[in-house]
Amino acid sequence: MFPYYPINDFGPVMKGMVIGGLGIFHVFLAQFAIGGGMLLCYFQWRDNKYGDRLARRFVDGYFRWLVLVSFVTGALTGVAMWLTTIQISPRTIGLMVDEFHWLWATEWTFFCVEVASGYAFYRYAKILDGKTRLLLLQIYAVAAWMSLFWINGILSWQLTPGGWLEDRSIWAGFFNATFWPSLIYRTLASMAIAGLVAALVVNVASGFSADERWTLVRRVFWFLAPMALMPVVGGWYLAVLPADSRGWVMGGSIAMTLFFTLGAGASLLIGAYAIAMFARPKLFVNGATAAMLCVLAFAATAGGEFVREGVRKPYTVRHTLYSNSITNDEVAYFREVGCVTNDPYPLINASSYPTDQLVLGARVFRMQCSICHTMDGANGVMHLAGTWSIDQLRLNIAKLQYTKPFMPPFAGTPEELEALVQLVRWEHEGRPGEWDTSDDETVLRHIADSLAKAGTQSMIPRP
Ligand code: HEC
Repeated sequence: MFPYYPINDFGPVMKGMVIGGLGIFHVFLAQFAIGGGMLLCYFQWRDNKYGDRLARRFVDGYFRWLVLVSFVTGALTGVAMWLTTIQISPRTIGLMVDEFHWLWATEWTFFCVEVASGYAFYRYAKILDGKTRLLLLQIYAVAAWMSLFWINGILSWQLTPGGWLEDRSIWAGFFNATFWPSLIYRTLASMAIAGLVAALVVNVASGFSADERWTLVRRVFWFLAPMALMPVVGGWYLAVLPADSRGWVMGGSIAMTLFFTLGAGASLLIGAYAIAMFARPKLFVNGATAAMLCVLAFAATAGGEFVREGVRKPYTVRHTLYSNSITNDEVAYFREVGCVTNDPYPLINASSYPTDQLVLGARVFRMQCSICHTMDGANGVMHLAGTWSIDQLRLNIAKLQYTKPFMPPFAGTPEELEALVQLVRWEHEGRPGEWDTSDDETVLRHIADSLAKAGTQSMIPRP
């Protein structure tokens, strides 16, 4: 039986965007926490090895505090991610937890170590000797990176589950095709973000002379040097992406290509500035420039995360679960039985629809489309297809996976499809108080034919 879950309605905001928007903040903060840990280690090491008091002052005065803020906010947004994802895509989360629960437990253990060592450093650094300070920071940095290591395997599995599809082996799923390039890329990004935020902090912090600022900024900028590897690792990532996903990034989907270009462009600008810094020893990064570079780093993160989430369409777990939580096999089943026939959850504002058919249409829309569309807001069907004729709507929804290959096939009966079409027309006419029910047998037979022709499989070939 299909597991129906109660699903929250976020009004005009597309559900996928709620996860995506929050995810970008979370990833930015979490990656800063990782890079920040490495940066703290480096400065503490300088203090121990060279007696670098300036490095010590920076660590104690500001950065220590900032890393605390970052892992607290990183943790809070992390919890917020769980809260929103279970409301929006409970089945995906369920599958992720089912398949990988010991790996999640491992990830959370590292996260606990990260929090405990980070907090211990924050609280007791002042009374500890250099060696112990460095040890604590090393534990912190390694634990932070390890939590990335584990979560990266699970997230990249969603996009390229590889051998897991054959035998459900967790290790085949975990060490999948995009595991290494995405782990390395994120590590480079973490270092760059930490370097840029540190450059900003150096500029806004009080108590450093102009000379000291100059020295510190130069030092933290070394954390941007590994960015030089980004084009190679990024290319590796693209190369191991499935051909359909890669196609969307390379021009197949305008939105995806745009965000990819945004991400790559922002990274290139940061990289160009870093090269200028290394090439011209006199160059300094002031507060405004550092802030702008941080904004670019945020934009690059946003672009990257959008693309990573986007290229998975129409799946949340490739070849396994469509974005609307329906599986391949269930498409055929729902074509017979109906996708909302057994859906126990009532519709919000059901009384605002003048006919039962429109209520049915709204339930079908909620079940199959609302994860990626709203009616009238973000990615609104009204904007995309409001002007289509009624027959165009019938045909294009019946062959949804051909209309746009990043949509799943329609998974319902001809009656449900017609109800959805009526809903779109009714919305387009401005939700009039009266609306005729359409029950023409010939129309339903035509829809059944179109559905049969389209088949129940996604356009995207299974390996
Ligand atoms: C996996 C996400 C996803 C799901 C599920 C989905 N769509 Fe889409 N749909 C999209 C995207 C992305 C576009 C492209 C938007 C654009 O071109 O700006 C799109 C485009 C469309 C278009 C316009 C197509 C065109 O050729 O211009 C229509 C109509 C549409 N969707 C209807 C639906 C209906 C009805 C459902 C539910 C039965 C649905 N979609 C389910 C993601 C989805």
